[in-house]
Amino acid sequence: MVAAMDISIRKAERSKLQDLNLENLPFGKFFSDHMLEADYENGEWKNIEIKPYQPLLLSPSLAALHYGQAIFEGIKAYKDKNGEAFIFRPYDNFKRFNISAERMAMPAVPEELFMDGMLQLVGLDRNWIPTQQDHSMYIRPFMFSSDEMIGVRPSENYKFMIILSPSGPYYSAPMRIYVEEKYVRAVTGGVGYAKAAGNYGAAMYATAEAKKKGYDQVLWTDPFEHKYVQECGTMNVFFIIGNTAITPSLEPGTILPGVTRLSAITLLQEMGFTVEEKNISIDDLIDAYKAGIFYEAFGTGTAATISFIKELRYKDFVMQFDVDHWRTAPALKQWLTDIRTGHKEDKYNWMQKV
Ligand code: COI
Repeated sequence: MVAAMDISIRKAERSKLQDLNLENLPFGKFFSDHMLEADYENGEWKNIEIKPYQPLLLSPSLAALHYGQAIFEGIKAYKDKNGEAFIFRPYDNFKRFNISAERMAMPAVPEELFMDGMLQLVGLDRNWIPTQQDHSMYIRPFMFSSDEMIGVRPSENYKFMIILSPSGPYYSAPMRIYVEEKYVRAVTGGVGYAKAAGNYGAAMYATAEAKKKGYDQVLWTDPFEHKYVQECGTMNVFFIIGNTAITPSLEPGTILPGVTRLSAITLLQEMGFTVEEKNISIDDLIDAYKAGIFYEAFGTGTAATISFIKELRYKDFVMQFDVDHWRTAPALKQWLTDIRTGHKEDKYNWMQKV
């Protein structure tokens, strides 16, 4: 249990929910009535407040804007079939948040602030949780350095915030993926395992190039040979080869340890798959494809949940998948949805009641 925290609450005078239809929502474009804000000053967290969602007033010299000491998380809240609000595995995201904070030389956010703050905020804006299929309320905790100083060193002041976005699906259709051989996302010793804002900014150029060629996302590969698979866009990636589900190993420190990745591993094992977390090369994938045993490929992530890959292009070699006849990824996606909406038993206690 999380101890209750002293969080001051200032409610919005009028709910913006009256102006929004919670159906057919885009991802991440609308925000609920309230947000949480807290300041780290002189070594402690203070000014912890839930207040109406509003712009921030920032100095042009704000350290985060110059040197990118900024991290975030993505978590989702759902309503079950009885209309009760639940959050999916928030504690796992809390732990990952502080791993990211440490790597970026930022202070840890206390469990009470992160967890209790999130529960109170989601509780207050629970009416914003959409219930349409593939919809949820995306919870975005984030922290950034807030020194007003352009010397290069870890900041002394930070802001921690949580905002809420009722959202529809991130990718609505199966994806075409370009295997990236020029640009890299992460190297051992770098920040690939952290949810650092800069990882996403640094990925945008390669993604835009792939989009120009007609692809939805890139499949990131290792920085030395461009052969070993890392992640797919902003997602972890899985391959079903024969009776085995393979996902890249976390060991090199280049991969974000996804909470949906972890959940997929558990459910795939329950489905009877051998799950291997290992280094897998694009040549291994091509060999399996040629042998007719590479059945499915999909991405996993909080925003995307399970996203099917219908085409993988490596140089001139194209691997195509008949997504309509897949059995595993659709079943996995449904199973996760059913746990989140209370239609299947939550036997691992993944759902945290609000
Ligand atoms: C997530 O899956 O939560 C992500 O971080 C992906 C993206 C929205 C940044």
